[in-house]
Amino acid sequence: MDAPPNLGILMEQLLKRARECAQALKKQDEIKIVSHVDADGLAAASIICRALNKMEISNEIKIVKKLDLPVMQSVSGANAVMFTDLGSGSLDLMDDLGPVCIVADHHQPAGSSEMAFHLNPHLFGFNGATDLSGSGATYLIARALGDNVELSDLAVVGAVGDLQHVREGRLRGVNRLILDEAEKNAIVRAEKDLQAFGRQTRPVHKLLEYTSSPFIPGITGNSAQILELLASLNIELKEEGEWKKWVDLSSAERRSIISALIQRCLTAGMPPVRVQNLVGEVYTLLKEEPGTVLRDASEYATLLNATARYSFEKIGVDVCLGDRGGSYRKANELLLMHRENLVRGLNYVKQTGVTTLSNLQYFHAGDYILETIVGIVAGMCKNLEGVDRHLPIVGLANSDEGVKVSARGTQSLVERHLNLARAMSEAAHSVGGVGGGHDIAAGATIPEGTEAEFLKNLNRLVAQQVS
Ligand code: C5P
Ligand code: C5P
Ligand code: ZN
Repeated sequence: MDAPPNLGILMEQLLKRARECAQALKKQDEIKIVSHVDADGLAAASIICRALNKMEISNEIKIVKKLDLPVMQSVSGANAVMFTDLGSGSLDLMDDLGPVCIVADHHQPAGSSEMAFHLNPHLFGFNGATDLSGSGATYLIARALGDNVELSDLAVVGAVGDLQHVREGRLRGVNRLILDEAEKNAIVRAEKDLQAFGRQTRPVHKLLEYTSSPFIPGITGNSAQILELLASLNIELKEEGEWKKWVDLSSAERRSIISALIQRCLTAGMPPVRVQNLVGEVYTLLKEEPGTVLRDASEYATLLNATARYSFEKIGVDVCLGDRGGSYRKANELLLMHRENLVRGLNYVKQTGVTTLSNLQYFHAGDYILETIVGIVAGMCKNLEGVDRHLPIVGLANSDEGVKVSARGTQSLVERHLNLARAMSEAAHSVGGVGGGHDIAAGATIPEGTEAEFLKNLNRLVAQQVS
């Protein structure tokens, strides 16, 4: 990787820490893995599980929503615990726990950063929202354990699941090192392509119909115009009676469609910086079957979220561990339901609209949107009419433990020092809740009834950060 010299030194230090974590793992004969309930967390747990299985080190995966005292107590009797995609916010809970603790995380650390086996990009000058994911950090340890390059695709899936490629339209930082390794070993192929979901699995016209970032004037949601456009470009929609998928088109055909889409956006007056977002890097998993969800990193990550967010995390882990039978079929069923739920959630926000304060906008979905997907919906609705693309968006939904809050910012606000992890943590504390995450995306849980006070405080904190 061609990094500037100081970045090279930081990378060396990060890799050294990964080797130290690997050494600590090697000494164990039994390890509990505790990981986070999302695509990145599932990928992370599976990476370390597969690496340990290869070494015949017995291990067991536990996937959790958050790391709290009951979770800690449940693993306190183990000899060693590996925390992946979480842990950096709960280091103080590990101090007197008993077992050897190893943490591979990318959330902004809270409390002491003295812990020996703590691998987190933030400790080495990297950004955990863009430069390395939880599964990426875990992969660095796996590769220090032995030749585990075949697990690099899961690290790419985790990073893409956490939208780490979105900021620059490509994976960067330490993620790039992992991607380079994956490409050299013919495990992943990165290429520039249309940023649309379902390249492997959706018929071309359907894929275009659902493009949302950016929203393409006259195309998104407009099947008649799409068919007209494709006909004008002489694109055959079917081959031997089957709908062609985006990946079935020749690169010349894909280029001609992308050019036409760019032209439409520009003609409609869309600012060129937004038009650029039409194209970005996409990641093909070369060891997976072409034409399946698992062949594309973004589709794979969505499949994992479709299991994890509905308490079927074991199904997702099974898929990452190689199941292409029962668990894989079930995961595909869950994916259909997940997509419907996202559409329903988006429609809810479209219909009810958002309430705008001076420095943020929010919607409260009550019981209408599941608390486990309100963050995904919040992230998706920045392209809706009536939603201000320049303000953070905050989604609230009821949960068993109070009210779940998910906040999503923008790149330009982050450049102006927006740090949602800090603002959400502080605003949540001010009403007796907890929060954390990344500069551009963060979450919190607050007591029911404190929403107004919380939002007022959050609005003030965001104003201070970006002033
Ligand atoms: O818990 P974890 O760190 O794995 O999740 C990261 C979260 O940050 C994801 O929900 C992802 O969608 C969000 N994110 C975002 N925009 C970015 C980067 C991350 O919404 N540019
Ligand atoms: O839950 P949501 O998708 O909104 O989370 C956004 C980011 O904030 C994720 O990285 C998540 O792990 C993190 N988060 C956190 N503490 C919370 C809630 C969410 O660190 N209490
Ligand atoms: Zn993560």
